[in-house]
Amino acid sequence: MYGSISKVIRLGKQTKVKKSWVERFMSIFILIIIMLAVYGVVYWNETSRFPVLGEEDTKVFYVTALMWEYYPTEIRVLEGDNVIIHLTSIDVPHGFYLEAWNITSNVSPNQTETIEFTADKVGKFEFYCIFYCGIGHEDMRAYVVVEEKG
Ligand code: CUA
Repeated sequence: MYGSISKVIRLGKQTKVKKSWVERFMSIFILIIIMLAVYGVVYWNETSRFPVLGEEDTKVFYVTALMWEYYPTEIRVLEGDNVIIHLTSIDVPHGFYLEAWNITSNVSPNQTETIEFTADKVGKFEFYCIFYCGIGHEDMRAYVVVEEKG
């Protein structure tokens, strides 16, 4: 029994390929790049859910439309806030329909449309794309979350 185990260990040692320092360096480097990319996406998405500037009761957001998502996927405001959304497309024309406030818009690539409304309802409200933009068009949606003030 012990004999077969040591054989396996020996086989394992034989098949182990010795990596040069360049390979080691490259694999660590690539790993760091991947970690930074993942962190960047998560961090960006997390921070941009919340307003980037504005007065106490005016909340300003920058929303990016792309096939087939909006980023951030959710924006958060307080009841009564005046909400300003600067909507940009980075690929093809996209639409925007926020049913709760009956607001429609269309945005062309590399242009910005400004959407403004008062968040006078509490809840989670969907907005979605109303301009056909490809195979994922039907699933292109995001949310405005209005929290009760207090
Ligand atoms: Cu974006 Cu349809």
